[in-house]
Amino acid sequence: MRSIVVLHNFIFLLLLLSHLNSVSSWKKEEFRNCNQTPFCKRARSRKPQHCKLIATDVTMDDGDLTAKLINPDDNSGSNPLILSLTVYQNGILRMKIDEDPSHNPPKKRFQVPDVILPEFESTKLWLQRYSIDGDSVFVYLFDGYEAVVRSDPFEVFVREQGSGKRVLSFNSHGLFDFEQLLVKKEGDDWEERFRSHTDSRPYGPQSISFDVSFYGADFVYGIPEHATSLSLKPTNGPGIEESEPYRLFNLDVFEYLHESPFGLYGSIPFMLSHGKSHGTSGFFWLNAAEMQIDVLGSGWDAESSIVLHPDQKRIDTLWMSEAGIVDAFFFIGPKPKDVVKQYASVTGTSALPQLFSTGYHQCRWNYRDEEDVKNVDSKFDEHDIPYDVLWLDIEHTDGKRYFTWDKVSFPNPEEMQKDLASRGRRMVTIVDPHIKRDDNYRIHKEATKNGYYVKDASGKDYDGWCWSGSSSYPDMLNPEIRSWWADKFAYTEYIGSTPSLYIWNDMNEPSVFNGPEVTMPRDALHYGNIEHRELHNAYGYYYHMATSEGLLKREGGKDRPFVLSRAFFPGTQRYGTVWTGDNTAEWEQLRVSVPMILTLGLTGITFAGADVGGFFGNPDTELLVRWYQVAAYLPFFRGHAHHDTKRREPWLFGEHNTELMRDAIRVRYTFLPYFYTLFREANVTGVPVARPLWMEFPYDEATFNNDEAFMVGNGLLVQGVYTQHAKDVTVYLPRDYTWYELKTGTAYKGGKTQKMEVTDADIPVFQRSGTIIPRKDRFRRSTVQMENDPYTLVIAVDASGAAEGELYIDDGKSYEFKQGAYIHRHFMFSNGKLTSANLAPLTSFGTKFLSDCTIERIILLGYSSKPKSAHIEPSNHVADIEFGPLQIRSGVRSSVLTIRKPNVRVSDDWTINLL
Ligand SMILES: *[C@@H]1O[C@H](CO)[C@@H](O)[C@H](O)[C@H]1NC(C)=O
Repeated sequence: MRSIVVLHNFIFLLLLLSHLNSVSSWKKEEFRNCNQTPFCKRARSRKPQHCKLIATDVTMDDGDLTAKLINPDDNSGSNPLILSLTVYQNGILRMKIDEDPSHNPPKKRFQVPDVILPEFESTKLWLQRYSIDGDSVFVYLFDGYEAVVRSDPFEVFVREQGSGKRVLSFNSHGLFDFEQLLVKKEGDDWEERFRSHTDSRPYGPQSISFDVSFYGADFVYGIPEHATSLSLKPTNGPGIEESEPYRLFNLDVFEYLHESPFGLYGSIPFMLSHGKSHGTSGFFWLNAAEMQIDVLGSGWDAESSIVLHPDQKRIDTLWMSEAGIVDAFFFIGPKPKDVVKQYASVTGTSALPQLFSTGYHQCRWNYRDEEDVKNVDSKFDEHDIPYDVLWLDIEHTDGKRYFTWDKVSFPNPEEMQKDLASRGRRMVTIVDPHIKRDDNYRIHKEATKNGYYVKDASGKDYDGWCWSGSSSYPDMLNPEIRSWWADKFAYTEYIGSTPSLYIWNDMNEPSVFNGPEVTMPRDALHYGNIEHRELHNAYGYYYHMATSEGLLKREGGKDRPFVLSRAFFPGTQRYGTVWTGDNTAEWEQLRVSVPMILTLGLTGITFAGADVGGFFGNPDTELLVRWYQVAAYLPFFRGHAHHDTKRREPWLFGEHNTELMRDAIRVRYTFLPYFYTLFREANVTGVPVARPLWMEFPYDEATFNNDEAFMVGNGLLVQGVYTQHAKDVTVYLPRDYTWYELKTGTAYKGGKTQKMEVTDADIPVFQRSGTIIPRKDRFRRSTVQMENDPYTLVIAVDASGAAEGELYIDDGKSYEFKQGAYIHRHFMFSNGKLTSANLAPLTSFGTKFLSDCTIERIILLGYSSKPKSAHIEPSNHVADIEFGPLQIRSGVRSSVLTIRKPNVRVSDDWTINLL
């Protein structure tokens, strides 16, 4: 017995060493490329007009339009496919294609549950009629748009009525292919081998592939997660050498590379297109199996005889998945915000985060013990650096048994958390899905007894290696198991946890060190006899969901959960936050973090960030400082580092650098009222907090391909600095606006590329003319301590002297805002008059949120008149006006007008007249 244990530990050590060794570089050969992935290779080798199906037997069924897809020339007796089209409010078209149940396929193919909102399903429009013209069936979609199903050759498209201009189309190149499940016969060999792993593939090949065209598109975006540019480069076509498709397969990739289509920790099969002629459209395929997507370079179909609307610019794409069904959504836009709203109506908007989680987070693998935690916490105070959350990685546990504490290093976890909480700070601990197979471990005992683990192909509990050694994985697809898991976060179950403790889910792709491609075998089995290959990309999603529900349960549904997850899938935004995983301390990785986070925002997950400083390696001080300066404007803001790196808390690099990092973090805290207002907007509409420029300036072509700068809301433009020793950077300022540099108030005209001098002190940030941004400028040590602080409003007027903005405030933690307990103000400035009006509905029921906070200062940028006083109504008092430089730096002087101490309450209606 003992020797077996020793042997196990020895093997584990070897595995661990080999895993850690790979830190030095990405192990390309550990992962399959398209050529080593048979369904991908097959799909890529098909030529246009491969599909021989025609659509027949069109009928109405339950308000849907259904048709059969058959191959009239095929005598092999292959079964028809069933196509159904459903139309929802706001012009959303959904198309499903699956095997025909009346022909008894060997099993039901997997349709991903718990992603589509029930509220969305209820917006289905009951189709009453359709029209047929020759070969085509027409379905009304939305004001000015219709869907068309053409029978022969089979094609589905969405177009504008009248002009006939296309928006999106499916199978226009005839690349659709659907491999139906098979029953194994004597002699069938369907096994697939990769390195030392064999996949039994009990139903034979079951892949699906098709082409989708985006019309009027200059660029396509989306389909995370890849460490690559915001606009997606073509991956196949003339002149493109040896390029891989964008892979969507959740994997634990050590040291990922920038500029790579390789799939990382999460997957969202949602692509957006944008161009100056149509605007924006989107296509979403709800499917959780491995997916590969080619963006086809122009001329890819030169040999094909298909002539497709040559008058419309177009981007063609090829979508390939290993399993599942076609469950596709077409979004007509036509503006960028319309498309993200349409997508959010299907998969949900992001949860409103707790206010504390929008502050700065300090993490490291690992803060060693309670002493270390105390020390780091007190250093933040000593150096006047605000922060909200201290994090503990895997070493805080008793031998990587989650929900436990290392008795030597963390003997008093409750006291530790209470001590942090006494200064308004929270703690986050890690809880991963790999459960140590230890008969004395409570969680393992229960999961084994109840049969809660994922099974291997032979039906035994799947056993893989991870941080905890020999481990098994709870089957989170099963709602009963999710509920069991959620109960583990009760204070009586998670001993040593307190109400100020929140959770981090790592390794939930799931990561399996000795599994194929560092994950679970595709023929492992889940609840309902679902193969792992069918749901792989959603495993982490269900795990995240269960954890989030656990935090909700432990406080009786009163406290908003905070759960950070590495793996993600459509819908993740409803359960928590995401970060971009194990990046590296390199300039190029700082640069790529911006398009990665913007892409997540476009595809629903706005609360996202990258490890500040880079997880692997030691950033030089300049890189670390620049990273803080950029990340301070991105939605999720956390410093984190691998345990082999040197300590890098912000005070370890000399007084000057401490000051720079302190400034960057403080700037973030001053903008928290604005961020929180934007998180509210994201929660209500689905429009992300951090936005690509083209989302705000959809007609300004110069922005379409820009991913070095981004917008925070509609008001702030942030330009990162991504190179060493930069003396200046070029910034494109979108046209039709004036831009006010934040520190100096200097005005720049838009529509030009500006060369801006930079020092190490900050990066260029501008406020757009026409906006009003709320801030809290007093320095405090955490969000809790800022609660009663007064506000500053910064008004940047437009050419007509007007501006507007919003402020949203609630208790920052509970769900009472759902009953109307919040303050939501609309600020309007025009003709020398600033008014604050209520945006919140007047509710007669439930609670109210009250605040005594006032506005202590109003700064006007670009206001040319010289008023003498500010007269406030209805209180009838007069506030002082001051003219002066906002700040003087390198000779730049810009005079601004400041209204001092108007002291109006944020919760009241008032008007300030400049006279
Ligand atoms: C907003 O967030 C809350 C809580 O996080 C969530 O319950 C709700 O569904 C979200 N969406 C809307 C539209 O309120």
